Amino acid sequence: TPAQELIAKLPKAELHVHLEGTLEPELSFALAQRNGVALDYDTPEALVAAYDFHDLPSFLAIYYSAMRVLLTEQDFYELSYAYLKKAREQNVLYCEPFFDPQAHTSRGVSFETVITGIRLAQKQAAAELGIESQLILCFLRDMSAESAMEALEQSLPYKDWIVGVGLDSDEKGNPPSKFAEVFKRARAEGYRLTMHCDVNQENTLGHIRQCLDEIGVDRIDHGINSLEDPAICADIVQRGLGLTVCPVSNRFVVQDLTATHIRRMLELGMRATINSDDPAYFRAYVNENLLALHEEGGLSLDEITQLVRNAFVVAWIDDAQRARYL
Ligand code: ADE
Ligand code: ZN
Repeated sequence: TPAQELIAKLPKAELHVHLEGTLEPELSFALAQRNGVALDYDTPEALVAAYDFHDLPSFLAIYYSAMRVLLTEQDFYELSYAYLKKAREQNVLYCEPFFDPQAHTSRGVSFETVITGIRLAQKQAAAELGIESQLILCFLRDMSAESAMEALEQSLPYKDWIVGVGLDSDEKGNPPSKFAEVFKRARAEGYRLTMHCDVNQENTLGHIRQCLDEIGVDRIDHGINSLEDPAICADIVQRGLGLTVCPVSNRFVVQDLTATHIRRMLELGMRATINSDDPAYFRAYVNENLLALHEEGGLSLDEITQLVRNAFVVAWIDDAQRARYL
């Protein structure tokens, strides 16, 4: 369709994608075989058929279980390169992917193994495919603040390879304030700050407030619930903060593409962006997210274009690089 073509051709940036969430079933099977890890299913198709998530915890259980196949530097390289290649094929020219080191170090895979494999893929994809990327380290909020601090300390020798830190995993009972010290230290080390405030979790609006008032984030991941409070919206607009919204992910988590929320953000002058979150699981990369918003959510192609542009505006790049994209 013409809309599909326009979306495919637009130069894009992606700011909310978990590298572990780009693990496609075919690669999962190949790595399982290479590493001698037993999977619960006989074929990639059977694995996908068993993807049964209807909220954040049910998704996370499947997501963490699947990571058992990721063991060596080569595995992390292949995972990351496959995502970057796929993204470039969708005309993503720049991205800021997340990785979850604690999900690996807790299984005995070293921080160095993980980040060295990812870094090699980033370098090679930049040189061979022409896609630039900067890595964001996410802390798992359902683990302790001490564990997050340990991950932060492990990251310091690789500071030049990491642009910022985020906070993901299960939000229930794990507010931003739990990690105030960790994020303060991360800021002092020169990292940018973002945090997940996923749609309709426990006290999400309160978590957004903490992000703004206690943490001083540079961006908010998701952030749909900010629309419940006009003062919060005004604050986000005034600070020029980006919001990395993931419509197809939202359809899995709360059975709603949140298209009307996204339109409202644009009307209010909030810098909403569209992202895939965990594309291998939600079966939609960034173009499919944008197309769903247009075809099912009714957003106009002008609105789609604005959302795409916003991602370059709020990306953690300098103005010279931004000018090359905009
Ligand atoms: N980790 C990977 N994907 C996530 C999501 N959508 N929300 C919270 N944590 C995540
Ligand atoms: Zn996410």
